[in-house]
Amino acid sequence: MSDPVIVRCRDNGPFVLPASVQVVDADGKPFAIAAGKEVIALCRCGASKNKPFCDGAHKGMGFAACEKAPAPAAS
Ligand code: FES
Repeated sequence: MSDPVIVRCRDNGPFVLPASVQVVDADGKPFAIAAGKEVIALCRCGASKNKPFCDGAHKGMGFAACEKAPAPAAS
């Protein structure tokens, strides 16, 4: 079984994923990802002019999202 893809929720910013994932539109057509990238950032603030990718616009619009995953239950 392969390792799971990790999606990192960056505080007050985008979702960051390995560039090995394929991002497709609603019709299944893939978005191009520049060669050599190790990670990609997906906008979650809605302000990017390059959706679905983050263009840094979240920094100037006061986007706030610092969700933390709950601690694992004790066993
Ligand atoms: S999260 Fe960066 S522009 Fe939206």
